[in-house]
Amino acid sequence: MNKTFSVPRGTSDILPDAAPLWEELETKARKICKSYGYREIRTPVYEDTNLFSRSLGQTSDVVNKQLLELASAKEDEGLALRPEGTASVVRSYLENSFDKKEQLSKFFYIGPMFRGERPQKGRLRQFHQIGVEAIGIDGASPFHDAEILALAMHLLQEFNVQGPKLKINSLGSKEDKEHISIWLRTEFTKHKNELCEDCQNRFERNVFRVLDCKNEVCRKVVNAVIGKDKALPLSDNSLKYFGYVQKALKDSGINFEISPHLVRGLDYYTHTVFEITAEGLGSQDAVGAGGRYDRLLDDLGGNEKTEYGAIGFALGIERILLATEKKQAEPQAIDAFVIETQPEYQHRAFQLLSDLRKNSISATASFSGGSMKSLMSRANKASARFALIIGDQEYKDKTVSVKNMSTGQQETVQLSEVVEVIKKKLN
Ligand code: HAM
Repeated sequence: MNKTFSVPRGTSDILPDAAPLWEELETKARKICKSYGYREIRTPVYEDTNLFSRSLGQTSDVVNKQLLELASAKEDEGLALRPEGTASVVRSYLENSFDKKEQLSKFFYIGPMFRGERPQKGRLRQFHQIGVEAIGIDGASPFHDAEILALAMHLLQEFNVQGPKLKINSLGSKEDKEHISIWLRTEFTKHKNELCEDCQNRFERNVFRVLDCKNEVCRKVVNAVIGKDKALPLSDNSLKYFGYVQKALKDSGINFEISPHLVRGLDYYTHTVFEITAEGLGSQDAVGAGGRYDRLLDDLGGNEKTEYGAIGFALGIERILLATEKKQAEPQAIDAFVIETQPEYQHRAFQLLSDLRKNSISATASFSGGSMKSLMSRANKASARFALIIGDQEYKDKTVSVKNMSTGQQETVQLSEVVEVIKKKLN
């Protein structure tokens, strides 16, 4: 017997029963993002590998352990499947000189991302994100942080996500981050050997990650050395900035919790960082996350004289669907199901289908023949509103019997008039 194939580990098919839920969610997302002034951007699913290592950080798990590189790519052009969307959007922003065209660019994207993770519930190798990025010369206002957070919470509310909880923190400015790194390294030096292998590796290049490491021993060290709820020592300006963000959130009635050790796994963040969790997801409970990444523009070759501001987030669609009440989509109905009882009537059925579709009436047929009973049951299964029957008599008389599938009422209509009749009935 020939080998059968399965969907690759960590990926899944979105089958026709589930696809309408995805479509509904994506339609809502597009509508809401546009209502906040964001415009859709579509970037390739793979990019230069260096784009990701330069932006997400060499020490981030995403680059270090999870980047899926294309083996067939030529050596001089290492390519990797995108693990997230921010780096690509910034690459495209700079490449297309958006900074010369507008003060602030507001993008959203919806699409698949790829990470070579160990699959488990809510953690996949191909997953989908709805992402939003606000980038520009005018991008450094704390009100953009608040707007981004408001948009993320608005989307999750519209998707009926259960128990969304917003946790925020500030990493401070680029300069703050440098000072805090030195401070953290000094504090942790004596305990370096107790930290997990990952944290020991990150110690020099991204000591912040020790703060939110899930390893029990690292947590004990953090609690003993830094204190469980101790905020990071930010400069006055950064504290003021964070204060503005919090006030704007309070003013717009958005509940949040300050999580002083939330640092995020990607290197590019400064100032506000956040994560949104939902109920019932088990250990992978983050439905979305994001933050401010002003310095990434410079790191990826932006104009040195320009002070860019940038902030964004991404929501994981698979996790959203796990955390919503609605698990079943409405069955997809069709306007007409054409039934022809003899093979020689199929040409006429085909012509009728084509006329219906040209008039924007959705229609299908079985082209199989069979008993009236079995064909009717197929029309039912297809959730057809009307069955259009071409039997012996109808074929002879150039008519069609139109059966309303919900009331069972049936009438005979001239073949030449059937499209108009159905149109009227659907209206
Ligand atoms: P992230 O935290 O890596 O951030 O991912 C955002 C969301 O994508 C997560 O909260 C989760 O819902 C979903 N997600 C991530 N990895 C997986 C996975 N393996 N399986 C299923 N879902 C997953 C980013 O990607 C940043 N680019 C967010 C951002 C945008 N920051 C600024 N702008």
